[in-house]
Amino acid sequence: MLKYDEIGYWSEIKLDIIKEYASAYSKILSTQKRPCFYHIYIDAFAGAGKHLSKKTGEFILGSPLNALLISPPFKEYHLIDLNEQKIKSLEELSGSRHNVHLYHGDCNSVMLKYIIPRVRYSDYRRALCVLDPYGLHLGWEVIFNIGQMKTFDIFLNFPVADMNRNVLWRNPEGVSKVQMDRMNRFWGDDSWQNAAYKESPQRSLFSETEFEKTSNDVIAEAFRQRLENVAGFKNVPKPIAMRNTQNAIIYYLFFASNKPVAQDIIQYIFDKYSNRKA
Ligand SMILES: C[S@@+](CC[C@H](N)C(=O)[O-])C[C@H]1O[C@@H](n2cnc3c(N)ncnc32)[C@H](O)[C@@H]1O
Repeated sequence: MLKYDEIGYWSEIKLDIIKEYASAYSKILSTQKRPCFYHIYIDAFAGAGKHLSKKTGEFILGSPLNALLISPPFKEYHLIDLNEQKIKSLEELSGSRHNVHLYHGDCNSVMLKYIIPRVRYSDYRRALCVLDPYGLHLGWEVIFNIGQMKTFDIFLNFPVADMNRNVLWRNPEGVSKVQMDRMNRFWGDDSWQNAAYKESPQRSLFSETEFEKTSNDVIAEAFRQRLENVAGFKNVPKPIAMRNTQNAIIYYLFFASNKPVAQDIIQYIFDKYSNRKA
């Protein structure tokens, strides 16, 4: 039996942001002529298609279901999840639509092997891709390859709570190799260490250097620059911080695109939601 995920208010805001952007995106891409575009929706960590709201106890549609209801529709949908029950749930919820492709597997390999190569610039294909893991489960190779295609707009969950809990400790000496490797895989290399730690002004008399941890915002900004300078996205606005009821940041929601107009639309949407609280 599938146990539906219970989601906090910050996830409900994320769903509203993605839905609003996806709706504008599909409208623009559907109406554009000369050239006509073939636009695709991809949810790499799709989930079951519906969740339970922690606030109300009621069912809420997840990001893939919201996308399936958008009109005018996307030309194709690609939904991936590692959990077989969740894929079965998506199968039931998406009905007999011929253009919905479901994948039970690790999105890191499915994206590289089957999906990214379907979205070539020269074929007038474009995609909106949601990368929404709960933690450090995404590999940089996927992000980098998407960026290089120049055909993708992405939403990316930057899981700073997982990073802080497992890797970005005040004393990094105690962090296990397994956790370091998870962080390196997400970031693409170990250069996150330069962003995460800075030289402390209170150097110890007995050591050459003492380091202190930087803030969440500093790490997120370093990753924003990486999306632009290494992955090659032209437009990466400042992400929106998703906070819990104690005001702690759970994750940052990034958006990246190659189109300046996309940045204008998302900035309007981020501004609208940035002050919403639980
Ligand atoms: C945050 S939930 C996705 C929620 C969904 N985007 C929504 O808003 O409705 C993350 C999902 O990723 C799935 N998952 C975890 N690791 C994965 C992987 N390597 N590949 C594909 N799916 C994975 C989990 O089973 C879970 O359903």
